[in-house]
Amino acid sequence: MTVDQLRRKAQEHLASCRVPEEAANAELILAYVLECRRPELRLNGARPLTGRQEHQAWHLVLERSRRIPLAYVLGSQEFMGLDIKVSPSVLIPRPETEELVAAAVDLVRRAPAVGRAAQVLDIGTGSGCVSVALAHLLPEAQIVATDISPAALALAEENARRHQLGRRIRIMKADLFHPGKRTSGWADVAVSNPPYIPTKELARLEPEVLREPRLALDGGPDGLAAIRAIVAEAPADLRPGGWLLLEIGHGQGPAVRQFLAKAGYTDIDVRKDAQGVPRIASARRPGAP
Ligand SMILES: C[S@@+](CC[C@H](N)C(=O)[O-])C[C@H]1O[C@@H](n2cnc3c(N)ncnc32)[C@H](O)[C@@H]1O
Repeated sequence: MTVDQLRRKAQEHLASCRVPEEAANAELILAYVLECRRPELRLNGARPLTGRQEHQAWHLVLERSRRIPLAYVLGSQEFMGLDIKVSPSVLIPRPETEELVAAAVDLVRRAPAVGRAAQVLDIGTGSGCVSVALAHLLPEAQIVATDISPAALALAEENARRHQLGRRIRIMKADLFHPGKRTSGWADVAVSNPPYIPTKELARLEPEVLREPRLALDGGPDGLAAIRAIVAEAPADLRPGGWLLLEIGHGQGPAVRQFLAKAGYTDIDVRKDAQGVPRIASARRPGAP
C-alpha cells in the first residue's frame, strides 16, 4: 500500500467512527509512523509503505477510532514548542494553559519584586508541562511541582529529565499545598491549572476528554472547589506580595475575583485567552514585600 492509499483508508475509517478532524488525524498518525512532517506526506504519496509501517499505522488508526485522544495514541503533545510526553494518567496539555505560562513568564520578567531567580510553585502539575515550560523560559527559576497523583508525578519527573531541567524542578506529592517546605511564604509565584469543570458537566464532554483522568477535570459541584482551596491556602506558601496565577473555566471569572477580593488579595485581574474567554486570574498576596 502507498502513503496516499493508507492515508485515504485511515481517513475513511476515522470518519466512519465519527472521529473529529479525521483528515488531520490520519495525516498526523502517518507522519508519526514515517517520522516526517505532515507536508512531506503529500510529496511522497506514491511511496510504498513497508509491512511494518502499514501495521503500526493501522494499529494507531484503530486506537484513535476508539476515540482515544491523538496525544495518548502518539504518546506526546507539543506545549510551548516543547515535546511533552503524555499518558492516560495525565491531562493533555492545552493551548489555554500556554497563556498561563506566558502570564507567569511575563510577570517574573517584569516584576522587580520577583527578581530573576524566582521561586515558583506549580500546583497540580500533571504531565509537568507548566513547570517544564517555565524552567525552559526562565533559566534561573527554581520550581516546586506538586500533584496528588503518583502516576502524574512520575511522568512530570520524566518530562523534566527529558528536557534536562530536572535539577531546577523539584517534583513532590502534595494534596494541593504544603509541598514539604518547612518555611512558609517561600514562593514568589504560585501557578495552577486546577480541575475546574463542574461535576455534572463531565457527562456532556466529548468522548476523548472523558478518557482523561477525572482527578484532572472534576472541580466539584460548582467547578470551583480546587480554586477556592488554592485561593484560601496559597498565602501560606506565597511570600507577601507574591503572585497567584490561576487558569479558570468558562464563566468563573466573577466568582474567582470575589474569592480573591474576600481573601484580601490585591491587583486582581482576569485576562482573556485567544478565544476572548476570561481565562487567567492573577492577584497578589496581601502584605507588601
Ligand atoms: C487540570 S490538571 C492540570 C495538569 C497540568 N498542570 C496541565 O496544565 O496540563 C489538574 C491536576 O491537578 C491534580 N490534582 C487534582 N486534585 C489535586 C489535589 N487535591 N492536590 C494536588 N493535585 C491535585 C490532578 O492530578 C491533575 O494533574
